[in-house]
Amino acid sequence: GSVPNHTPKEEFGELVAALPHKQQSILDLRLYHGFWLPEHWIPGTIVFQRRFTPRPDDVILASYPKCGTTWLKALAFAVMARDAHPPAHPDHPLRRLNPHECIPFIDEIFAGGEDAKLDLLPSPRLMNTHLPFSLLPDPVTNSNGGTCRVVYVCRDPKDMAVSLWHFLRRRHPDLAFAATFESVCDGTVPVGPVWDHALSHWRASVTNPDRVLFLKYEDLLRDSAGNVRRLAAFMGRPFSADEEAAGAIEEVVELCSFEKMKGLEVNKAGTSGAYKAMPRDAFFRKGVAGDWANHMSPEMAARLDAVVREKLQGTGLAF
Ligand code: A3P
Repeated sequence: GSVPNHTPKEEFGELVAALPHKQQSILDLRLYHGFWLPEHWIPGTIVFQRRFTPRPDDVILASYPKCGTTWLKALAFAVMARDAHPPAHPDHPLRRLNPHECIPFIDEIFAGGEDAKLDLLPSPRLMNTHLPFSLLPDPVTNSNGGTCRVVYVCRDPKDMAVSLWHFLRRRHPDLAFAATFESVCDGTVPVGPVWDHALSHWRASVTNPDRVLFLKYEDLLRDSAGNVRRLAAFMGRPFSADEEAAGAIEEVVELCSFEKMKGLEVNKAGTSGAYKAMPRDAFFRKGVAGDWANHMSPEMAARLDAVVREKLQGTGLAF
């Protein structure tokens, strides 16, 4: 077993130092089992893989960064907590807390050696990760039952690239869009390549649709209510006919809408727990599909589309 008086960082330091390295903007990335992970996550990821004990009613919200994590966290929380916290209530936790404060971020929790916090959470637990499916702990990913549920949200990589650039620019104002774009295209972005990340979850959702729900940011925008209904049913908390008739789904959609969330005092000022380095308002920028057109030339867009199309060819997944 692991040595309890060593931190994961000390215990796995040599392993991490031997991995291929790439400096990307504000982060040091290391290639770990095919994905460019932020260096400081890797020891925690190993501990997560070895020690995490899923509960059958756990729901893990998974995403590629900048693809709708914050929104999915808000929606899932609002759905799961709706008996104790009716979404229309003026004092709903999501009106007082940033979504990242309502749901623990597994990767940062393990990176900080704080995994005992997860054991203390009451069931059903909601947690989130940016890891690809292939790097989740075996008891979560194996197919012989006993596993928990995973909800994944992806997004057009072109809009992800634009969102990522704006996000990184909050720390590095001089960062050029072209640099972020190149990193996205060659996969050297946090937890990249984005296509392999989405594909790992996509394949799991095809093999095991009761265990892995695959959502798209654009679908959430187009049909918020329909996707909240699906999400609730998948998480084992379907809306009853009475709830539907009373407008409960619309109340969740409204509570979690971009305009509502962006306008909240709690989402404007300060930084949030799991992302201490980032101001809370960095998670609420524009909230639309297609903003890539304002940042990329048609040639750049065609180039990224071609890379993604080639990588996803024959998989059934497309953006
Ligand atoms: P943009 O930068 O394109 O506006 P993540 O939460 O994974 O970091 O993703 C952030 C992206 O989701 C940002 O995209 C952000 O504006 C958008 N977003 C955040 N909250 C949202 C909400 N409630 N509804 C729709 N989009 C939201």
